[in-house]
Amino acid sequence: MIGIAGKSVLVTGAYGGIGAAVAKAYAAAGAKVLCADLKNPTSTVEQITQAGGTAAGIQCDVADEVSVVEMMNQLQSHQGAVDVVVHCAGVIHERPLLDTPAAEFDKVIAVNLRGSFLVGQAAIRQMHSRSGRVILTSSDLGYSGRETFSPYVASKHGVMGLVRSWAKEFSPDIQVNALCPGPIDTEMLGAEQMTEKWRQKELDIPAARFGSAEEIAHMALFLGSDMASFITGQGVGINGGSVMP
Ligand SMILES: NC(=O)c1ccc[n+]([C@@H]2O[C@H](COP(=O)([O-])OP(=O)(O)OC[C@H]3O[C@@H](n4cnc5c(N)ncnc54)[C@H](O)[C@@H]3O)[C@@H](O)[C@H]2O)c1
Repeated sequence: MIGIAGKSVLVTGAYGGIGAAVAKAYAAAGAKVLCADLKNPTSTVEQITQAGGTAAGIQCDVADEVSVVEMMNQLQSHQGAVDVVVHCAGVIHERPLLDTPAAEFDKVIAVNLRGSFLVGQAAIRQMHSRSGRVILTSSDLGYSGRETFSPYVASKHGVMGLVRSWAKEFSPDIQVNALCPGPIDTEMLGAEQMTEKWRQKELDIPAARFGSAEEIAHMALFLGSDMASFITGQGVGINGGSVMP
């Protein structure tokens, strides 16, 4: 009904909270899903196959061009050229600007922005001259600023630049959009990435709670479906009202 069954789908960041939920949602809708992550995404693949879905896993560094090309080649030979890519891989660091080494800026930009460029470019190469959907992951911080997170915020603004440019360059065949989550209850908001003080601050939004990865997956599935046929170049907020651009 929604046009997902039988589609060849790539989900990056599929070991992590949002990516795993997105991969499971597409598989439940009948897609063939390649689950990619820097970490081995076996747990996600097993959950999908145990539920009767079709999935395979691959380890890939989205910041590395050779790794991305290899992933796309494997995808094409195992499940056919990609129809929908949902690129969820990403990293975050909380640190005051004056304590931030340039190497940390480089890392965040490499994974979040260069990774989006490489995965999106490689997917569009396979989609070229036919229809396809590219769904990148920006953030509510793709619209606003945030003290002590400037490399991350810059990377997510950059993702919106890719979305808006590619939507124009490849319309009408390929639709390009971004998920813009607000605070979502995954490892990314965990103690390794963020102070407890900041976690608490994140709750200060109209919805007064963290969203779930499944709530992001619902929008990711919608954007890849026939129901989203007139949507391109957009950043779609799933954010409990954290920003209202
Ligand atoms: N959780 C939130 O509150 C929130 C809010 C807004 C945007 N986002 C974005 O959503 C996306 C998913 O985040 P999440 O909350 O699921 O976080 P997560 O930490 O649970 O998952 C991120 C995944 O990306 C993978 N990854 C990191 N570097 C990689 C690389 N170089 N190559 C391949 N994979 C790599 C990690 O291994 C991890 O599995 C990210 O782009 C994040 O910026 C998250």
